[in-house]
Amino acid sequence: MNKTIKVAIDGPSSSGKSTIAKLIAKHYKFTYIDSGSIYRAITYIALENKLINKSFVNSSVLIEILKKTSIDFSFNKKNQNTISVDGTELENKIRTSEISSLVSFIAEKNEIREYVVKIQKRISKNKSVVMDGRDIGSVVFPNADVKFYVDASLLTRSKRRWIELSKTEQDLSLEVVKNDLLKRDTNDTNREFSPLVKPINSITISTDNLSIGEVLDKMIKIIDQKLKIK
Ligand code: C5P
Repeated sequence: MNKTIKVAIDGPSSSGKSTIAKLIAKHYKFTYIDSGSIYRAITYIALENKLINKSFVNSSVLIEILKKTSIDFSFNKKNQNTISVDGTELENKIRTSEISSLVSFIAEKNEIREYVVKIQKRISKNKSVVMDGRDIGSVVFPNADVKFYVDASLLTRSKRRWIELSKTEQDLSLEVVKNDLLKRDTNDTNREFSPLVKPINSITISTDNLSIGEVLDKMIKIIDQKLKIK
């Protein structure tokens, strides 16, 4: 393939999009980019610098700090990304429920989104990528070769997230996870800048009653068709 390919995957929290995006990237030997991890890393930086709580984000100071910070991805042998801030890998530290409950307050700030879009474009340059997030097919790659909107019911998504978080946060109840997810989705969908939408020309995939393998098969068939791969 001469031309680089962009596969955009959007959808609400815990819809299964990152699991599937990684598998699609592996299948085509494309690079997987988890755009949510950039917003999570910025939330981590904001917390470290005491610039965020549930009712306030000091975004002007945060932006000044970000200008002096280097946020990068390193790619392992499987071409999967690990995010690092000033050379320190953050992976586990950004997946906590505290970060999850605050990240959408960071993601609603336009000046932060502009900063993140620059990172997304820089790391995708001259690469075939599968990128997942909330604004990939609508804002970051509006001309992506293939666009998906991956969805599932709130209950299915909450159960998935709860199982994942319970490995490290044993006291967490399903109800708390469900409420947090709902709050985050409501913020992501209703924010002024780059809200979560079904991008124009995107194909909706509902993952409620399908196994990961079934979702993968379905999406690969669509991508093959779009890219005319026999
Ligand atoms: O995908 P993940 O759940 O890790 O994303 C965390 C948060 O980052 C989302 O809830 C959303 O607020 C924000 N985000 C975004 N745009 C993206 C990716 C993530 O606003 N492209």
